[in-house]
Amino acid sequence: MIGRGYFVTATDTGVGKTFVTAALAASLRARGRDVAVFKPVQSGAAADDPSGDAVLLGADCVYAFSAPLAPLVAARAGGRTIELEPILARAGELAREHDLLLVEGAGGLLVPLADDLDLADLAAALGLPLVIVARAGLGTVNHTLLTIEAARTRGLDVAGVVLNGKGDESTAENAALIEERSGVRVLAQVPRLADPADAAGYFDEFLG
Ligand SMILES: Nc1ncnc2c1ncn2[C@@H]1O[C@H](COP(=O)(O)OP(=O)(O)OP(=O)(O)O)[C@@H](O)[C@H]1O
Ligand SMILES: [Mg+2]
Repeated sequence: MIGRGYFVTATDTGVGKTFVTAALAASLRARGRDVAVFKPVQSGAAADDPSGDAVLLGADCVYAFSAPLAPLVAARAGGRTIELEPILARAGELAREHDLLLVEGAGGLLVPLADDLDLADLAAALGLPLVIVARAGLGTVNHTLLTIEAARTRGLDVAGVVLNGKGDESTAENAALIEERSGVRVLAQVPRLADPADAAGYFDEFLG
């Protein structure tokens, strides 16, 4: 159990976990916090690939697979098995060395990692509350409520939801509807921006 920081998950792959994690890190660092960023499992890019999340975030990574496949599939294809223990060991080291930890998941919450392990198990083992990144536009209410319901079923705390990216005419009502239906706060609505650092200010209310 690390218990200091956030586990950033999303309603789907490509929704903006890395962007939001980088923005949160920038915002926390602007507050003088010593933040470690951790991307325990990455697929689609080797650990040192400059286009991969680990390098983009300056994050530690335990399992990296260059195949653009779901982590469990990529691991099997490479004859490897993703295990919780090395991830928790690295997280423990990072937590000892830093004030807090931002962990980016992979894909969404129920993405399988091994035969008896998925991302929700990892979040639970780390003891970190979830920040759920969701698309801003149409379809997001359903996907966000599904993720919140799954998180609750798995006993996970949800710190809040971030609506990210280009919205549409549904966006204005989406935040209110998510809050009304789930009781979970929408922490920020981040528009399309050139750089994650430009989004840091959107977390002022959440981070205080
Ligand atoms: N608010 C934003 N403004 C501009 N570009 C964004 C924003 N959010 C995400 N992007 C861009 O959209 C793409 C997908 O976002 P990102 O990589 O953060 O998603 P992800 O959820 O981390 O994906 P994965 O599941 O592959 O880890 C990236 O190119 C990212 O830079
Ligand atoms: Mg990412």
